[in-house]
Amino acid sequence: MMGIMDIDLTGQTAVVFGAGKGIGETVSKQLAQAGAIVYLASRTEANCVRVMTEIVDAGNKAVAISCDVSDINQVDAVLAQAEKETGKLDIVINNAGIDCVTPFVDCSQEEMMRVIMTNQVGVNNGLQCALRRMKKYNHGKIVTTTSFAGRRDLPHGLGFGHYGMTKAAVNYITQSAAFAGADYNINVNAVGPGIVLTKMWEDILDTAEKEGKNRKEVWNEYIKTYIPLARGAQTHEDIGYMMVFLCSKYADHITGQIIYVDGGATTA
Ligand SMILES: NC(=O)c1ccc[n+]([C@@H]2O[C@H](COP(=O)([O-])OP(=O)(O)OC[C@H]3O[C@@H](n4cnc5c(N)ncnc54)[C@H](O)[C@@H]3O)[C@@H](O)[C@H]2O)c1
Repeated sequence: MMGIMDIDLTGQTAVVFGAGKGIGETVSKQLAQAGAIVYLASRTEANCVRVMTEIVDAGNKAVAISCDVSDINQVDAVLAQAEKETGKLDIVINNAGIDCVTPFVDCSQEEMMRVIMTNQVGVNNGLQCALRRMKKYNHGKIVTTTSFAGRRDLPHGLGFGHYGMTKAAVNYITQSAAFAGADYNINVNAVGPGIVLTKMWEDILDTAEKEGKNRKEVWNEYIKTYIPLARGAQTHEDIGYMMVFLCSKYADHITGQIIYVDGGATTA
């Protein structure tokens, strides 16, 4: 028996920025499984090639391209290649992001600029380039990865500081982009993960370990303190399901929204 929502993206062209690992890798695989041809764009080409091989081995379609999202020309070149090779552009996922867990007062200008260039300027580049190219098709779905840190900071030295600042900016421009896309039937939304054990959190735990703390205890404490829902941390798949849904026809009337898949972390 069929379920009520069967997501079929057969023949659609999708571009995922930040597709080489973590959440981006998973959503790329999910989009490919739903039938899309997925252009995997990330800074480290070897990671994209690995993900591409796994997608193709599973019988689905993908293309790997290296791209630094902080450079608008590189972002546009990826979209241009996808359009040139497939004749269209249906889905763009702006997922590339880096962490910055240096305490607010100690963060150097250099580190702050690095996180701004990837998380904020990179997302801006993806939104502007995608909207400019999608307009002519009069349809499209754009999804950006934000964070619960864009809505609230944490006390007691666990703060997100400049990382959170970039995600708050992402939330704002998601709405600006949604207004810009609305006349062209383009939906623009963002998904905010809470806590997902990826390289980003491994980095945070590395720092805690260097400070002499117990890795596992720190992780468990984060989960217990910040995720009300007793299921614990989110998985890559949990975030990907929401993204794939937002790319589907079932989300045709959703735009300008920041949707948190965070076990309640935004409200805790
Ligand atoms: N892991 C979490 O708990 C969590 C929580 C909230 C939000 N997020 C957000 O989810 C997104 C993905 O994070 P993740 O946890 O999967 O991290 P990750 O480090 O596992 O993956 C990030 C990906 O982005 C790519 N990338 C980084 N900088 C880039 C650049 N300048 N140009 C192109 N690609 C670049 C990396 O190569 C990698 O493929 C990020 O936007 C992050 O802020 C993660």
